[in-house]
Parts: sequence; C-alpha cells; structure tokens
Amino acid sequence: MNATTTRALTWIEDGEEQEVRLTDSLKGRSILTDLSLSPEERLAILDTAAMLKRTRNKQISHMWLMGKTLGMIFQHPSTRTRTAFQAGMEQMGGQAIFLGAQDLQMKRGETVGDTAAIISRYVDAIAIRIADPAELMDFARGATVPVFNALTSKDHPLEAMSDVFALREHFGTLENLTFAYLGDGNNMCHSLMLSMLGSGVNVNVASPNAFGPDPQVVSAAQALAAQTGARLQMFGTAREAVRGVDAVYTDVHESMGSTVIPGKLIALAPYRVTQEIMEMAKPEAVFMHCLPLHRGQEVEPEVADGLQSIIFDQAEARLHVHKAVLLQVLHDDRNPFSS
Ligand code: CP
Ligand code: NVA
Repeated sequence: MNATTTRALTWIEDGEEQEVRLTDSLKGRSILTDLSLSPEERLAILDTAAMLKRTRNKQISHMWLMGKTLGMIFQHPSTRTRTAFQAGMEQMGGQAIFLGAQDLQMKRGETVGDTAAIISRYVDAIAIRIADPAELMDFARGATVPVFNALTSKDHPLEAMSDVFALREHFGTLENLTFAYLGDGNNMCHSLMLSMLGSGVNVNVASPNAFGPDPQVVSAAQALAAQTGARLQMFGTAREAVRGVDAVYTDVHESMGSTVIPGKLIALAPYRVTQEIMEMAKPEAVFMHCLPLHRGQEVEPEVADGLQSIIFDQAEARLHVHKAVLLQVLHDDRNPFSS
C-alpha cells in the first residue's frame, strides 16, 4: 500500500527548488503506541526526518508550523524528549509549552480526561510522558487534538523510531540488518522490537526469564515480523543474541518510577554490554542506548564512550524525528507560511 500524498511543501536549497510530500493519513494523527503507524507511514516519517536533518545542517530555516503550539506534560524528568520537542517546534516557527505534571491540577485529582479536554482547547497537539499506559489512553480519549506518547512504563515509541532513524543514517540502509537488545524487558525493549521489526530490521532479544518482555508484546512483534518479513528471535544469553549482529542495544536496569525488585540487578548483570560482547558482533557493529545511561552497570564505560558507540547520534536523531512527526501531523495548508 502506498501512502497517499496530496500536500507538498517547497523550499530553495542550493539554488534549486526542493519539495517534500506530506502523507495524508498522518495529518491530525496521534502516536500512542508503536503500532499506531503502518510501515509506509514510518518510512514517510524517516524520509521527512532525513530532509529536516539535511536542511538544518545547511542552516535553511522553515516556518511551516508558524502559529502552532505543542503542549508538553511530563510526569517524569526528561532531557532529550522535552528538548527535542521544544526546539523542534521553534525551529519550524511554532512554540511549545512545558507543563510539569506536579504543577497541574492533575496533582490535586483533576482527571487526566478533563485535563486532556481542557488543554486541547489551547494547543494544537500534546506530548505526554505518563507512567501508566492506561492513563495515556484515558488522556487520548479526552483530548481533541493529536496526542504523542513521550514514554510510559510500557513503551517509548518516538525514541524507538528515532533509533531506527539513527541506525539507517549510520548504515545508509535498514536492509539485511540485525539488531540485538540485551537486558531488561522494559518499555524500550517493547518499543524497539515493534519499531525495528516494523521497519524490516531483524531483532534478537536476550533477557533473564524473570525480567523478559511482556508476552503480549512479543506476540504482537511476531505478528508484525510476519507482515514485514523481518525475524524475531529470543535468546537466554547475551552471547547467543549478539553473534554476528549489526547493532547492540541496552537500556537501564532500573527504569523511572519502577519499584526496586530484589535480585533484579543481579539477574541483569550478565546482560551488561562489555567489550568482549561487542567483539562477538560484526566488526562494524554499533553500540546503542536511549540514554540516560549508567556506566559500569548496564554498559562498560569503554563501550559507551568507545568508537563503536553512536549514543549521541541517537540523541540527535530525536530532534529530526520529532520534527518530522510534528510537521507531518500538524502542518496546515491554510498557514500562509506553509511553503
Ligand atoms: N531517551 C529519553 O527519552 O531521554 P529523556 O528521558 O531525557 O527524555
Ligand atoms: N527504560 C527507561 C527509558 C528512559 C528513556 C525508563 O523508563 O526510565
């Protein structure tokens, strides 16, 4: 299925007119989970992100979101997600308003549904980081503008899509790549399985039995793999999972807001990414992490700061991918600054 594109934006680059076509089905859409987007829509966002990265590097500015406002509600701290959304809106002529969950009346019991309905009256879209995925869905039901999942305890779709973009930028293609995730079967593990497989990348996962990914997410990932032709394999040990892969990824062993489970850190210790583990992957393999990271816990400092690490490229990718999402979802042809 080809994504339909009837909207086009143009600009001058190196003296020549360039054009990007926007995908009709993305206009006004929420991104609540990794399954919110079809493989074609994902590809459209990755291509838009590549264009936005290139034009930013050439210092070409766009006013495509002039007059648009993004609300940003954060129940947990954030360095990358918040900054990428805010800088992204401003780089395209729009603005963003940060709303710490502690400062909202939600803290005093105003429901998430009422909060969503009210904030929707002021802004054009809302990004929300909220621990409980059921509350994210309540929020989205109450909202009358697009809602973007900025992390829940179950998933982190925009991070995973940015990681797919960083991988494609690094290798120049996603074809025939195999990606290994080691460690906690957490929100990142869930989103990466779905996002990588949805983009045609093979995925290997190694986690301890007691801290593996949610079986329902694994089933959804298997179904998606069957659709895109990618392969999902689950392993018991880190060594088996990384043999011959193109990318090795890990995340923190204790996520934000999670209760400390006795024995968890001990169970996860064998999944730490070491130099020895990296040597089992392909020689040109990359090390990836969504950040923030704990050097010495889930990854050795030599790997995190070594030549194979692309962690800061991943962080930069957040900007380009968030801008691509914002542009595809929020762009309005009636905006006089639209091209
Ligand atoms: N990776 C990520 O989401 O980072 P922040 O928590 O800083 O937003
Ligand atoms: N698993 C981590 C991801 C942070 C971006 C957490 O939820 O804290």
